[in-house]
Parts: sequence; structure tokens; C-alpha cells
Amino acid sequence: MNTMIAPSILSGDFSKLGKTVEDLTRAGADMIHIDVMDGHFVPNLTIGPAVIAALRPYTTLPFDVHLMIEQPELSIADYHKAGADILTVHAETTHHLQRMLKQIKDLGAKAGLALNPATPPDMMDYVHDLLDLVLVMTVNPGFGGQAFIPSTLHKIHTIREKMNSFGDHHVLLEVDGGIVPETAALCVQAGANVLVAGSYVFRASSLEEGIQALQGVQAH
Ligand code: DX5
Ligand code: ZN
Repeated sequence: MNTMIAPSILSGDFSKLGKTVEDLTRAGADMIHIDVMDGHFVPNLTIGPAVIAALRPYTTLPFDVHLMIEQPELSIADYHKAGADILTVHAETTHHLQRMLKQIKDLGAKAGLALNPATPPDMMDYVHDLLDLVLVMTVNPGFGGQAFIPSTLHKIHTIREKMNSFGDHHVLLEVDGGIVPETAALCVQAGANVLVAGSYVFRASSLEEGIQALQGVQAH
């Protein structure tokens, strides 16, 4: 499977997110990563279903919605209705993770499980049959522009081994936080196949160059 690039609009200009989504699509993104933060699970507040619904007409690319919110079961249907294709929840945000993931699948969306840097890979063991994606946080969630945490590489490797032993070859292994070409290469080597990148892509000389530089790490 080729490595996919999912730029995070968190680093874009919030006064023109529609244009940003269009520009990222034209620049060769594979998915649009949308960071939803509630000010409780993480110390930052971003956007909700209304903004996601407003962005939906601007691209046909999948919306990869990363929910950093407590009790996602209360609003998951709204995010799906707004146009989310992948709904990723953090292991710690719900008392009933299996039920939560099943609820996402029953809606007809793809289900993702996000693991914080200190959350063990075993969290996926008893829910792997419901998963379409595992998101390994390579920074603590909440903000863009943070430094990559190297101890997460071993976890990526462990998860890739688990996926192989479970036969979960269709499940995406995504990394998020501090991704630049150097850290991207390490993550891909460890088994990741979806790279989320915010600040790197938006600080590049163009969105296209930023995306291409990350796509280039496949070769290593
Ligand atoms: C952090 C978010 C990330 C963030 C990544 O909580 O989940 O998606 O936008 O930003 P960079 O690539 O700048 O680390
Ligand atoms: Zn994210």
C-alpha cells in the first residue's frame, strides 16, 4: 500500500478553510485531516459539525476526522451527517470503547482508534475487528507545531506486528504530530502508511511541494 498524506487544516488560515481544502485537494493530498478539539479532553478548542458540513462541498477527498473530544458517543452521528468519512476517537474519551466503535460502523463510517503517546498499543487488541484505522499520536494532542516524540516509533512497529498477526492488512496505520520528511521516513519504516502533517505542509514553499516531500519518503 502506498503511503497516504493527510494534511491537517489546523495549520491553515481559519478565515478561509474552504479555499484551503480546495488548495490541498489540487496540491495532491490523499485525505483531509480535520482536528476537532473540545477544550476538555485537550486544552484547545477548534471546530464542530457545522464547519465540517460547510467544508464538505469543497472536495471529494475523504474527510479524516480526528475527534479529541470527551464522550464522542453524544455527537458522533452529527459528525457523520456533516460528511466525515473516517471518525477517529481517543481510547480515553469513552467508558465503552467497543460500543463507541460499533456505533461508528453502524452509521456506515470508517472507525479509527487514536492512541496518545503514553497509551499502550494493547488498547486495540479486543476491538481490532471494528477498526479501519489506528492513529498513533506522535505528539500529545492539542496543538500543531510540536516536536515528534521518538518513543512512539516502537509503538508503531508493535502495532504493525499486531496488524500482521491479526491479518488486519486493510487497516490504516496513521501517525500524527511533528511529521517532517525525517520523522516521516522513520514512521514509514516502522510500519505507518498514513502521514498527517500540519505545520510542515503549510510552511513549505507551496502546499504541493510540502505534500510531495512527504510522499517522497516512500522510497526510503
Ligand atoms: C494535534 C493534531 C495534529 C496537528 C499536527 O493535536 O492532532 O493533527 O495538526 O500538527 P503538526 O503536523 O504541526 O505537528
Ligand atoms: Zn490530528
